[in-house]
Amino acid sequence: MFIIKLGGSVITDKSKKECFQQDIVDNLSEEIKKADKDIILVHGAGSFGHILAKKYKLNAGYKYDKQIEGFSATHAMVQKLNTLVLESLQNHRVHAVSIAPHSILRLDNHILDEINYKVFKEYLNKSFTPVTFGDVVLDKKLGFSICSGDFLVKVLADHFKPEKIIFVLDEDGLYTSNPKMDENAEFIDSTTADKLKKLITSLDNHADVTMGMKGKIDSINEIAGLNIDTILLNGNKPERLYKALIGEKIKGTIVYGDNR
Ligand code: IPE
Repeated sequence: MFIIKLGGSVITDKSKKECFQQDIVDNLSEEIKKADKDIILVHGAGSFGHILAKKYKLNAGYKYDKQIEGFSATHAMVQKLNTLVLESLQNHRVHAVSIAPHSILRLDNHILDEINYKVFKEYLNKSFTPVTFGDVVLDKKLGFSICSGDFLVKVLADHFKPEKIIFVLDEDGLYTSNPKMDENAEFIDSTTADKLKKLITSLDNHADVTMGMKGKIDSINEIAGLNIDTILLNGNKPERLYKALIGEKIKGTIVYGDNR
């Protein structure tokens, strides 16, 4: 079984509010169908979620009444994006079922408090493709907060121990710094959890050129600790997701799990 995260910057145009990348998602749906694997799919929120979540400071928890309006507006937006992803999958005969995090999971000060894993398991057993996504959720300590897609990947991978985790990005993989801001950024085609930790320490000293890439590396680093191989690849380039799913070599970054 595979866990795939479709990044918000691939499925939406992050610079424009509510801009869904239909053609790219359609290509990815087709590749998922063609590969014919058991998959839990997780997608990010992109421009559908981040703009409102930031405006209402939802990740800081409940502080003022207007956030209630912001919480439900943000939820409606990510649910709308989820419906667009689901439609694309269904049009390509992937039998997807939406599992909204806010209804099956609760956090406690950003840490997992409870989650219903059974619902994922039962749908997988019946040959469905469960689809979940970055969402606003209840938080025991904070009232509410945000559950990101990367967090869901970590929690689900820890429980289901997939064969591989795949992050679909708008870049070829990981670099030693942010390639959009630093022309000396070097591509990393394979690495280990240990080496990633060292890279994080060196990136901390160059915060100006590394923002963006560092956040990604931080979450990959936590996942690498689970001893599962993780592949990062470019979702804008045709066939890369398909080839990674069937085990062919592609341009991308592979992060080998801890016990190597
Ligand atoms: C964020 O999810 C969820 C909300 C803002 C409600 P992600 O963090 O997984 O989204 P992307 O992939 O960065 O867009």
